[in-house]
Amino acid sequence: MNGSSNVLVLGVTGQVGKLVATNLKNREAKFSVGSRRKANLRELADQFGASRFIDLDDPRTFEEALKNVTGVFLITGYTVDMLVQSKSLIDAAKRNGVNHIVHLGAFTTDQDSYATVFAWHQMIEAYLRSSGVAWTNLHPNMFMQNLLTHTSIRGGQYKPYTSKALGFTALEDLAEAAAVVLMEGPEKHSGKDYFFSADALTPQQVTESLTAATGRKFTAAVLDAETFLNETTQPGSMFEPAYSKGGFEFFRYVEDGRMAYVGTVRDDTKKILGREPLLLKEWAQLHADELLEIAGG
Ligand SMILES: NC(=O)c1ccc[n+]([C@@H]2O[C@H](COP(=O)([O-])OP(=O)(O)OC[C@H]3O[C@@H](n4cnc5c(N)ncnc54)[C@H](OP(=O)(O)O)[C@@H]3O)[C@@H](O)[C@H]2O)c1
Repeated sequence: MNGSSNVLVLGVTGQVGKLVATNLKNREAKFSVGSRRKANLRELADQFGASRFIDLDDPRTFEEALKNVTGVFLITGYTVDMLVQSKSLIDAAKRNGVNHIVHLGAFTTDQDSYATVFAWHQMIEAYLRSSGVAWTNLHPNMFMQNLLTHTSIRGGQYKPYTSKALGFTALEDLAEAAAVVLMEGPEKHSGKDYFFSADALTPQQVTESLTAATGRKFTAAVLDAETFLNETTQPGSMFEPAYSKGGFEFFRYVEDGRMAYVGTVRDDTKKILGREPLLLKEWAQLHADELLEIAGG
């Protein structure tokens, strides 16, 4: 990282952004974190060194937040609003002289990414590529951490919405790689697409990894895409309808083979970090206590 670099990390109250900021802090990088939660800015500054107010739904907040910023970690939440949020942030970054944007997308390919959520990320990446700002696009497959945040392993039963293999990445790898890309900057990483899918596993293989890592027996009960749609459109769901539809399409297309590539290994962790990525069974060993607690007795 050269002395004049100053990175802004978005999404630090979420799972990926928080780990990226933690990695930057551990590496003593010069950075600040951005949040729309005014009440939390002080606490975030104490935690990470510096914080800035930014609301991705309000472009009027962008100029101030981007002052003297050289690089941005652009992450958005699980919403179609990612399109307009990212477009206006990229426009403002260009106006304000930001010289590197690292975007967190999805595990996409040019031809086979039919599901809406995947296409939204691709539209953002196309806009970013043509913006004139140096870019790096990160393409993670399913987060291993989903096993901790979803109800998918309660009772020791893993309940995926497809019977087919899925690819997984550990957020430990993705976040560390993102931090290194931000620190090494556009000189090394401009115009690069990096993929994160370290382990491709069928439902049965996922349960074997969890069982081997924890010593507790896990079994698989495969659900389907319709069940995902039904569950995520109930009152109180964390997903908005457009994102539920995207998830439904994703699981349907993996199941019928149109997006079978999702169940493959393609991983650039070693290229960026010089070490192998975590496999699910290794990641599950690190998180064995949490997995056992969620699985219950
Ligand atoms: N889960 C997977 O398996 C997977 C796989 C591949 C790609 N992805 C991609 O990963 C991304 C989500 O990452 P994540 O899991 O870290 O998300 P997350 O935990 O839901 O965090 C989202 C972050 O974005 C912030 N945010 C939302 N709206 C904002 C706004 N208007 N202004 C400023 N900040 C805002 C949130 O802040 P608040 O606390 O203020 O809400 C939060 O810090 C999505 O783009 C998704 O497509 C996920």
